Formats: sequence, structure tokens, C-alpha cells
Amino acid sequence: MNIQFLYGTETGTAEILCEDIEADLGDGYSCTVTSLADVDPTEMNGDAFYIIVSSTYGNGDLPMAAQPFYDKLDAKKPDLSKVRFAIFGLGDMVFSETFAFGSKLLMEKLLECGAKMVGERGIHDASSPDMPEDIAVPWAQEIMGQLQAEAA
Ligand SMILES: Cc1cc2nc3c(=O)[nH]c(=O)nc-3n(C[C@H](O)[C@H](O)[C@H](O)COP(=O)(O)O)c2cc1C
Repeated sequence: MNIQFLYGTETGTAEILCEDIEADLGDGYSCTVTSLADVDPTEMNGDAFYIIVSSTYGNGDLPMAAQPFYDKLDAKKPDLSKVRFAIFGLGDMVFSETFAFGSKLLMEKLLECGAKMVGERGIHDASSPDMPEDIAVPWAQEIMGQLQAEAA
């Protein structure tokens, strides 16, 4: 299975998390890990399954480098009905009013463009005692289980 990890980050956590999930997947997957800054959303397609990991900055905004990806989705409204994705958000409940809003914004915009979401949005709270990978790795395992069950 072809998995494309896309991350939106300011300080690197989301990128490391993609690599942690990729390492846990093991053999049988062909993976790439790419910044949302380097992805044209109009070129997303049904050949890959997308796992998107994004943090939140500012006042519930996306990381700066991920903003053009969102803006292009918003402006072009591409038909993403062949695209399937799962999404994981990083946030901090210190910012309770905008907790993990970056991934929420991305999720809503992808759904608006017709993309199909697998599983629930995963979330890590930086104020919790859990490490991001302790939440994200089991979350991804569940998503992969769903995909394999569908394929069987
Ligand atoms: C200046 C600043 C603003 C932030 N704003 C929010 C926010 O509005 N909502 C939220 O849930 N988390 C917010 N966070 C928390 C980050 O999203 C969180 O620490 C995340 O794990 C960082 O991941 P990254 O290293 O991939 O960027 C903020 C953090 C900083 C430093």
C-alpha cells in the first residue's frame, strides 16, 4: 500500500510523528513523508492513502508553512472524491478555545472538497503526560486495521 504522510509543523513534532508512525508500520507499505508546504492539493489522488499530521499555532491557525496548502484548497475547491485520508492533530489544552484547530480546519476543508476520511481525527494534547507517539501510533494501527479489513 502506498502511504503519503503529509505534515504541518512549526517545531518539528508533526514531522517526527510521521516518521514514528512510518517506522511502526513495518514492511508492506511504500511511504513518503512530505511537508504540506511542498504539496499541491490539486494533485492529490486515489493512488495513495494520505496520513496528515498537523499542529496548531497563532490563534487556532495552521503552522505557517501549511497555510498555502489550505488556501489553495479553499480557492480551487478541487474534486478530491478519489482521495482517502486520516488526520491527526497536535495541540495544547492551554489554548482551550482553539485546541487542535489546525487539524480541524484541514479536515473540514478536505471533506468539503469531497475527500473521504477513514477513522476519527486523532489528537494529542501537549499538556497531557502522554508522548505524541503513544497516542498516534495506536491510532494509526487502528486506521490501518480498518483499511485492511475493507480490502479483505
Ligand atoms: C505560539 C504558540 C501558539 C500555539 N497555539 C495553539 C493553539 O491555538 N491551539 C492549540 O491547540 N495548540 C497551540 N499550540 C501548541 C502546539 O500546537 C503544540 O505544542 C504542538 O505539539 C506543536 O507541534 P509542532 O512541533 O509540530 O509544531 C501553540 C504553541 C505555540 C508555541
